[in-house]
Amino acid sequence: MLIVSSRIALLSVYYPQIFLILTSGSYLALSSVVALGANIICNKIPGLAPRQRTLCQSRPDAIIVIGEGAQLGINECQYQFRYGRWNCSALGERTVFGQELRVGSREAAFTYAITAAGVAHSVTTACSQGNLSQCGCDWEKQGYQDQEEGWKWGGCSANIKYGVEFSIRFVDAREIKKNARRLMNLHNNEAGRKILEQHMKLECKCHGVSGSCTTKTCWTTLPKFREIGYVLKERYGEAVQVEPVQASRLRQPSFLHLKESRGYQKPTDTDLVYLERSPNYCEEDTATGSTGTRGRLCNHTSPHTDGCNLMCCGRGHNTHQYTRVWQCNCKFQWCCFVKCNMCSARSEVFTCK
Ligand SMILES: *[C@@H]1O[C@H](CO)[C@@H](O)[C@H](O)[C@H]1NC(C)=O
Ligand SMILES: *[C@@H]1O[C@H](CO)[C@@H](O)[C@H](O)[C@H]1NC(C)=O
Ligand SMILES: *[C@@H]1O[C@H](CO)[C@@H](O)[C@H](O)[C@H]1NC(C)=O
Repeated sequence: MLIVSSRIALLSVYYPQIFLILTSGSYLALSSVVALGANIICNKIPGLAPRQRTLCQSRPDAIIVIGEGAQLGINECQYQFRYGRWNCSALGERTVFGQELRVGSREAAFTYAITAAGVAHSVTTACSQGNLSQCGCDWEKQGYQDQEEGWKWGGCSANIKYGVEFSIRFVDAREIKKNARRLMNLHNNEAGRKILEQHMKLECKCHGVSGSCTTKTCWTTLPKFREIGYVLKERYGEAVQVEPVQASRLRQPSFLHLKESRGYQKPTDTDLVYLERSPNYCEEDTATGSTGTRGRLCNHTSPHTDGCNLMCCGRGHNTHQYTRVWQCNCKFQWCCFVKCNMCSARSEVFTCK
């Protein structure tokens, strides 16, 4: 009985302790780990906020999906920022679980938005695939006719409401301190989820003889997460700086308004917001979540941020030469084999000093 799936390996990224439990107790089925050990597992995950721990204990199956969702967000973040000085390391790994992030930068804004969206996306997918016990497809509109377009709701509509709700319950539960950063993080979490909701798709199928579309059924589906990544990257470029506003008698900030505005203009629901200007990410600095760019690969000829000039912040770069070898000029010989030459070329890669 062995089901130590890749999902557990993934989970162990977040919870090294779980991996220990799983590897030390020879072979364990996931279901039995969940059944036996919700308490043990949830108590061992470091850095969970109290409400997250409670949710973990009542829904251990969902914790795995949440872990996958956070990873989905982080992977996308790393993809979107692969050519940037900040490449989603350091901040990326600490959003949903683990230590609090004491950074209010634009990059933190992006990270929060994409992980909250990732969790909603994953949970919704898991609902559609029947992987979570308490949700399934969204049947609410099933059978209803769309009056204008003349098609019928049918098939498995993605239960985005459930996914979003779950992301709110789990991801937002991390924000326990009543400070400006909490307002910032909650706003960005919400923006990520809103953008996901706005990009839901309609898929349809025609019924009728030989493809004639006498009746048509449609259902909603999730967008590819890559699409969300691109939209959020754009939002990141247009992110707005905000300031907290203290309500008169309370000691804590009660809402955020645009820094560069007169009056108290608020950001829109889908704006990414930040409190502090970003560092340049040239040097390592754990306080700002910068890993620096020493050792990063750069492109000798690119004028963009992946170019050695910008990437290395003027420190210069090292050149590494190597010889690439591959099979080439392959010809079919009668009969029957393929004969190839070996080709080689000298190649170079560049890394920042
Ligand atoms: C649902 O479960 C199947 C089988 O265990 C797995 O392959 C799939 O990745 C799961 N999907 C999600 C979204 O977790
Ligand atoms: C990001 O940069 C750091 C250091 O500059 C490097 O160690 C890490 O591998 C990079 N991560 C990715 C995903 O490229
Ligand atoms: C380096 O940048 C140039 C110009 O942007 C591009 O044409 C080339 O493909 C890049 N090389 C690599 C290895 O990415």
